[in-house]
Amino acid sequence: MKVWLIGAYGIVSTTAMVGAKALERGIVDKTGLVSELPPFKKISEYVPLKFEFGGHDIRPLPTAYDAIMEHWESNRHFDREILDAVGDELKKIKACKGTALNCGEGIRELGRVETLEDEGLTLREIVDRIEKDIKGFADDETVVINVASTEPLPKFSEKYHTTIEGFEEMLDNDVKEYATASMLYAYVALKLGLPYGNFTPSVGSSLPALKQLAEEKGVPHAGNDGKTGETLVKTTLAPMFAYRNLKILGWMSYNILGDYDGKVLSHRENKESKVISKDKVLEKIMGYSPYTITEIEYFPSLVDNKTAFDFIHFQGFLGTKMKFYFIWDGIDAIVAAPLILDIARFLLFAKKKGISGVVKEMAFFFKSPMETDVINTHEQFVMLKDWFEKLAEV
Ligand SMILES: NC(=O)c1ccc[n+]([C@@H]2O[C@H](COP(=O)([O-])OP(=O)(O)OC[C@H]3O[C@@H](n4cnc5c(N)ncnc54)[C@H](O)[C@@H]3O)[C@@H](O)[C@H]2O)c1
Repeated sequence: MKVWLIGAYGIVSTTAMVGAKALERGIVDKTGLVSELPPFKKISEYVPLKFEFGGHDIRPLPTAYDAIMEHWESNRHFDREILDAVGDELKKIKACKGTALNCGEGIRELGRVETLEDEGLTLREIVDRIEKDIKGFADDETVVINVASTEPLPKFSEKYHTTIEGFEEMLDNDVKEYATASMLYAYVALKLGLPYGNFTPSVGSSLPALKQLAEEKGVPHAGNDGKTGETLVKTTLAPMFAYRNLKILGWMSYNILGDYDGKVLSHRENKESKVISKDKVLEKIMGYSPYTITEIEYFPSLVDNKTAFDFIHFQGFLGTKMKFYFIWDGIDAIVAAPLILDIARFLLFAKKKGISGVVKEMAFFFKSPMETDVINTHEQFVMLKDWFEKLAEV
């Protein structure tokens, strides 16, 4: 299959590329891939583990190889031999220039940036260019995934965001104020009939107008915001308190991370989307709102080695208060990259099975899954498994 990555030069994207190529050569094992677990065995009949990559980015680097070299030099997040074995494959991947419309101040942290809007293009011209780039790569087995930096919350417009007719009007009248990059990419993917996955908290295809477009075009889509680290642990652990009827009084989550992601998120408006995405989960699992503190702070020397400190204050029998602490020391790109391949495979599988609209059964992969309140990781896994098994039988 082919995967078009928005943010193709990022650490998650390039690590996914390295991993996919290394898997193809059989030089690494399949640890970390959900789609390779026994319940999903049949997926290889529909979507083999073989990927070609293309994408958009706003950093003018020569190829994906230059991008992964930069990430690898600062993180050394996997064995150098793996990179050497597949490096030539990444030299063939060159990202097209993308848009960073209304992506906020945080984008400046990425260094030299070149965008379509710098060329003075209108909204319609921007989407036409994105469409031309994707069409030049895509076939019937292509999925688009947004792995670009997190953008700020968009300025919402009833007129332009609720129906696809309104959205088209926004494009035709060049109303840039209400458009953000992620919605423009999502619009093009869905318009072309390509399944779309949103690994970021950015709005992407969750706009009502774009949900309508996906239904009309019969395209599956899923998001938002990959569930990979602290939120994964939180939504796996919180059900334990619920099952044992222990009352969570307060939950503090303090995340520190470096790298480009951390730099961009150190900007208040970019961070806002992420904090909302991480903060909402407890209320949905517990049915009440415990007191929460959710912080994300930039910590340069950690680069991609994100650390999360969580403190949980809870109440048990006889009103007695107790404490629980955990520390998650994850390497962000390593926990995220295999999920990019999983999401791409499940979305293409969904398309092959004629599924359209939001695939809520893929909630398992996301912090803020669309159109479902199932946040409990255990329930999400069962939901994914049941959905897959039922469809695979047909
Ligand atoms: N575990 C994880 O790493 C994890 C989990 C959930 C979500 N995410 C999200 O995934 C995204 C990527 O994370 P990362 O660590 O790879 O970040 P990164 O900063 O390494 O990569 C982002 C890439 O996107 C590019 N970019 C930024 N804005 C763009 C735009 N408008 N169009 C095209 N390209 C653009 C940047 O130039 C960069 O190459 C972030 O939004 C992050 O919050 C990551």
